[in-house]
Amino acid sequence: MAIVTKAVKGTQDILPSEVYKNQFLEQTMLDIAGKFGFREIRTPVFEHTELFQRGVGETTDVVQKEMYTFDDKGGRSITLRPEGTAGAARAFLEHGLFNEALPQKFCYVLNCYRYEKPQAGRWREFQQFGVEMLGAAAPAADAEIISLANEIFAFLGVEGLQLEINSIGCPECRKNYHKALREYFEARKDELCPTCLGRLEKNPMRILDCKSPVCKEIAKDAPAIIDYICEDCSAHFESVKKYLDKMNIEYVVNPRIVRGLDYYTRTVFEFVSTEIGAQGTVCGGGRYDGLLEELGGPHTPSLGFAMGTGRLLMLMQAQGIELPKPNGCDIYIATMGEQASYEAAALTADLRAGGISAQTDVVGRSLKAQMKYADKIGAKYTAVLGDDEIAAGILKVKNMDSGETKELAVSDFADSFMEFMLREETAALGESLGGELDGVDLSAILGDIK
Ligand code: HAM
Repeated sequence: MAIVTKAVKGTQDILPSEVYKNQFLEQTMLDIAGKFGFREIRTPVFEHTELFQRGVGETTDVVQKEMYTFDDKGGRSITLRPEGTAGAARAFLEHGLFNEALPQKFCYVLNCYRYEKPQAGRWREFQQFGVEMLGAAAPAADAEIISLANEIFAFLGVEGLQLEINSIGCPECRKNYHKALREYFEARKDELCPTCLGRLEKNPMRILDCKSPVCKEIAKDAPAIIDYICEDCSAHFESVKKYLDKMNIEYVVNPRIVRGLDYYTRTVFEFVSTEIGAQGTVCGGGRYDGLLEELGGPHTPSLGFAMGTGRLLMLMQAQGIELPKPNGCDIYIATMGEQASYEAAALTADLRAGGISAQTDVVGRSLKAQMKYADKIGAKYTAVLGDDEIAAGILKVKNMDSGETKELAVSDFADSFMEFMLREETAALGESLGGELDGVDLSAILGDIK
């Protein structure tokens, strides 16, 4: 296939027939986050490369291998965001939001870019929904954001996700841990990949999430951070667990979770599925108490998570979860002749102004072809407008499901069609409820409506 008609490797189109799923997910996630007080933030797609080097960390896979980095025409090094936390933290500092009431709570839906090896559930351009809570040190905050992710999954009806949590301590506890890790990996130094060899001195924890199969194998028996955390970090972790227990949120402690980004401290967590293949982590997050200081701001303990909407949709599909389809076409007005075409343009405009989704012919098709089109787009009602209908001032509306028709005056068509559609829909709803709602017989009410 010619290169101009092929999307770049690792990217994907979301076609009009599918996009309602993304729209529904995005709105649902933002709405649920809104209930927790998170408000949407929109940050640029690209940032100064240094932000990610400092924020995400020089020795991470993301920074070392996966960033889309280029010099712009002004000679600045620019990087397409590989994730949303660094940009949100930068915006918090740049706009002095640390002077506002804390915690500041952001949520976002954004596209991210990582030059990874594409496979099922892993793309080079992918979308994340995420939240960041800046300026909250207490364990209650950790439990609150976990419960937010949990609520999103519950609302969507997603089942079987395992919540795994761990504590990776603070820089103080990490000193001893790094020593233990260096000792452990030193013994098998010759087998490590060149990147991990470099990490051994600078940041041995990063070896634990290297994607190379050999490093992975070696890392399996490495010491676990949870055995090295200090008293304060341990107390924090115990308290997070207590909150989760109290909120009936099930979890397992997985001492192997270290997360792939350097800013994390203390609590880290992932929601993992076994139903979508190797890329089963649908959501990941944790605390980053030192990030804002690292970027030159005041000490601001913070935390957040992000979930990949692509992976979430894959999981929902695997579980057969249907999302509500948006309204297609309420009414298609087919036309015969030039005069009818002008009239239909005005009628459809009136209908749309009243909130009805209305379409008419704009390509000059035959009546038969117009009706075929109306059928294809799933129009709920159709009407045929020609010189006779214009002369009589009457339009016959047909319900495409039942085949029933109803004559309505052209002069106030928009209003009378809206009323008619509402009546029909209410009656259909009554029937689908079996003529009863909460034990009340609806026949009298529905009789009136009909
Ligand atoms: P992350 O674990 O790198 O964390 O990514 C979060 C989620 O984004 C993953 O669990 C996954 O669902 C999705 N994801 C990551 N990479 C890809 C990819 N190549 N293709 C498809 N989906 C992907 C972060 O990005 C942190 N910023 C999360 C966070 C927010 N921590 C604190 N606040």
